[in-house]
Amino acid sequence: MKALILFSSRDGQTRSIASYIATILKGTLECDVVNILNTHEVDIGKYDQIMIGASIRYGHFHPSLKKFIHQHLSLLQQKPSAFFSVNLTARKPEKRSLQTNAYTRKFLLRSPWQPDLGAVFAGALRYPNYRWFDRVMIQLIMHMTGGETDSTKEIEYTDWEQVARFAQEFGQIALKRSA
Ligand SMILES: Cc1cc2nc3c(=O)[nH]c(=O)nc-3n(C[C@H](O)[C@H](O)[C@H](O)COP(=O)(O)O)c2cc1C
Repeated sequence: MKALILFSSRDGQTRSIASYIATILKGTLECDVVNILNTHEVDIGKYDQIMIGASIRYGHFHPSLKKFIHQHLSLLQQKPSAFFSVNLTARKPEKRSLQTNAYTRKFLLRSPWQPDLGAVFAGALRYPNYRWFDRVMIQLIMHMTGGETDSTKEIEYTDWEQVARFAQEFGQIALKRSA
């Protein structure tokens, strides 16, 4: 069984999560991890399962997410599939579910693709890597939401055990189908 794990990532955290999921699934599913911007290089039809992960920037997923879903909707609807979102709002555990994470809830409400599985993961805050404007904006948002404002800090909020559990659930879909 083969799975395609697509990621939409600006600073690399969603890519790291996608790669970690592939590692967890080794032995259960053979996974290819591909940037959603490079899907023209991929024969999507050959995969048994598809997962897409995407991060939030200034309240939005990258437009390539919507574009991919519209271009490949029928394939996505035919195969077992999963979606995960990555953002800093989810650093608060109470904002880390499909219902309580506003970006994810809105996305799923509007999406013609309804994945079989979904998750919300907390991302990373890496002030030293941001351009001046982004650093100031994130500091402002963090100040308003009671988060870290020290611009020398790098903090990874991702709960890797949560990611591993999600990966295993995704792997179960394959096992159930082939049983
Ligand atoms: C410029 C910028 C804007 C961001 N905007 C939001 C936002 O609106 N809401 C949020 O919850 N997180 C926001 N984040 C946090 C990112 O979602 C988080 O850092 C995530 O780990 C990024 O994943 P990526 O590296 O895969 O792109 C923002 C981060 C940056 C750098």
